[in-house]
Order: sequence, then C-alpha cells, then structure tokens
Amino acid sequence: MMAPVWLPKTLLLVVLLSAESYTIPEDAWCYSEPRCAPNTWLSLGHCNGKRQSPIDIISGKATYNSSLGAVNLTGYGDREKLLEIKNTGKTVDIELASGLLLSGPGFPAPYTAKAFHFHWGNGVSRPGSEHYINGKRYAMELHIVHTKNNLSISHALKDPEGIAVLGFFVEGSKNVTAKTAEAWEEFIKNLEKVSVKGKEEELESTVSLLDLLGSTDLASYYRYLGSLTTPGCNEVVIWTIFTDPILVPPKVVEAFPSELYSTESSNGPQLENNNRPLQKNGDRKVEASFKLHSAASLVSQSATFPLFLFILTLMSFLPA
Ligand SMILES: *[C@@H]1O[C@H](CO)[C@@H](O)[C@H](O)[C@H]1NC(C)=O
Ligand SMILES: *[C@@H]1O[C@H](CO)[C@@H](O)[C@H](O)[C@H]1NC(C)=O
Ligand SMILES: *[C@@H]1O[C@H](CO)[C@@H](O)[C@H](O)[C@H]1NC(C)=O
Ligand SMILES: *[C@@H]1O[C@H](CO)[C@@H](O)[C@H](O)[C@H]1NC(C)=O
Ligand SMILES: [Zn+2]
Repeated sequence: MMAPVWLPKTLLLVVLLSAESYTIPEDAWCYSEPRCAPNTWLSLGHCNGKRQSPIDIISGKATYNSSLGAVNLTGYGDREKLLEIKNTGKTVDIELASGLLLSGPGFPAPYTAKAFHFHWGNGVSRPGSEHYINGKRYAMELHIVHTKNNLSISHALKDPEGIAVLGFFVEGSKNVTAKTAEAWEEFIKNLEKVSVKGKEEELESTVSLLDLLGSTDLASYYRYLGSLTTPGCNEVVIWTIFTDPILVPPKVVEAFPSELYSTESSNGPQLENNNRPLQKNGDRKVEASFKLHSAASLVSQSATFPLFLFILTLMSFLPA
C-alpha cells in the first residue's frame, strides 16, 4: 500500500528541488520596498514552508539535551582566513579560506565554514537580530555559514541538513573586554572600503573569527532545524543559536548602518534593518545544551504565588 504512493511523491520532490532552489534573482526580494518586502517572499522558493527561520526561541518550551556539549571549532583562531569582504546590497559578506571545521554533538558530519555575514537594525536605538530569545531582540546577529562535508552551497541546498549556521547575537555595551573591542574596531575599518553595493575588497586579515567571538561560551546554545532566512528560504539548515551575546563597543553597532549603502551610489538608502520577520515555530523541537531551571522556577513560582495573592488582596483595599 505505502510504496506506490510514496515513490511518486519522492520523485516529484527531487524534480522540484533541482528545478528551483538557488536561482532566485537578486532583485526579486528586498527588506523594505513594498514591491519586494518579506510579505511578498511567500511565492519565492521555499519561503512558504513549515520549517522556516528565524524564530522567537522560548526557553520554557525548549528541551534540555545533555548530550549537546560545546561545538568544536578547528582553525577559527587563524588570522589568515578572512579573504574578501563584499557589500551585496543586502548584507556585508566575508568569504573564508578553506580549513575552518565545525563538528560536535548533533552534527551528522563535519561542516566547513564558507562565509559569514550580519543582520542589523539601525544602530543602538533599533535592534535588528533575526532570532529572538523570549521575545527579546538583540542589536545584531552574526551568521557563520557552513556546508556539510565541504559541499558547494548549491549541493548543500539539496540536503535537509546540508547547511549549519552558527548564530551569535552582537550587542553594544560599555562593558567590553579590551581584546574583543580591539578586534571589532579593527574589523569595522573594512566597512568604509565596501560602502556601496557591489563593492568587494581583499582583506588584510588582522583578526580571526575567534577574536570576534570574544569570550562567548561555545557550550551554551539552542539547536533547531530551520531554513535560510533569505529567498529561496531553503529548509536545509541546522541552526545553533548561542545564548551569550558578543559584547562590542556601541560604535561598532552604529558603524554598519551608517557606513554601508544598499545601492550602488552613496545617495541611496543606507543598508539597515536587513532582517526577516519571525516565522512560526509550528511543532518543531528546540533543544537547549544547558539546563533550563524550569523545575527551579516552578518551585519559586509556587512559593511566590501566595505572596502575590496576598499583595493583590492588600491592594484591593487601597483607595483607587
Ligand atoms: C575537534 O575536531 C578536530 C578535527 O576537526 C579533532 O581533531 C578534535 O579531536 C576535535 N576535538 C574534540 C574535543 O572533539
Ligand atoms: C539529544 O541530542 C543528540 C545529538 O543531537 C540526539 O542524538 C538525541 O536524539 C537527542 N536526545 C533527545 C532526547 O532528543
Ligand atoms: C573545500 O572546497 C573548496 C571549494 O570547492 C576547495 O577549494 C577546498 O580545497 C576544499 N577543502 C577540502 C579540505 O577539501
Ligand atoms: C562585565 O563583564 C564581566 C565579564 O564579561 C562580568 O564578569 C562583569 O560582571 C560585567 N560587569 C558589569 C557591570 O556588567
Ligand atoms: Zn543570515
């Protein structure tokens, strides 16, 4: 009974995948013009799917999985790996040399870092991360994009676990370690060289990815299966979202929207608010690599609830 039904469906899926993905024209989508804003993406690629990203991660609904230990990053401390920086009009993308390997619990194979890019809002005043944690949005989000077994991107898009993205929140803060501040200040000097869309420059690398990650705890993260956050929104991504934001000087957060333009001329609009709105989580499982203290918070809730009632009762006696 099952086989004759199942087989044609599989064939159909294979045909669809090879025909469409990765061929969405660059001007078919954008972040803010009504003609091409995110609410028009539903007809593009897989953007209307059920495994879409980003999502608001609710810690109370996540499941602690004790086998999710620290991710293992090999070569990320190498300062020679940042090859080229490009303003795509949608983000700033940094191409990486080969040899940066990601492995660890939950990854079905080793993954190779290919590039990284950012999503941001408009400086410190308007946060622009794509993922949220418990309704909180951060200033920026860094995405390091990896492919399984060093596949090319176009091949990785055909595997439901073909891409692994490491997502780090970036937040402006006065409490920044000198070493991390120095790395980011060095890094953002490159932005002015690619201020307009289409500009690309070789990097004289003086920083490594590890320098940029600072003291982020690589053992504290959420894990879920999702999609690319730009069209075709291919549902091929193992997401790892780290809980510790990278703290950077506020001027770093200001530099992205103020130094980058989304068009080929610097008369055009600034490159800002380049993030996709939240998508439905559906019944997807979000795992946490750390204990969520849900039992503890239940206990404290049960202890404070009577107190809360008592205060409410007292207040109801107060004149309005
Ligand atoms: C990390 O991965 C490298 C290979 O990329 C491997 O040699 C090393 O043993 C791994 N370390 C751990 C702690 O798993
Ligand atoms: C915990 O994570 C490991 C690695 O991803 C996975 O094999 C296992 O099924 C997970 N356990 C549960 C209970 O989901
Ligand atoms: C990974 O793929 C890239 C691009 O195809 C290639 O240049 C590089 O040598 C590959 N790395 C390894 C370790 O095979
Ligand atoms: C500043 O950061 C350090 C280490 O990241 C932390 O231990 C300390 O509590 C922070 N201080 C404030 C005022 O937030
Ligand atoms: Zn991204």
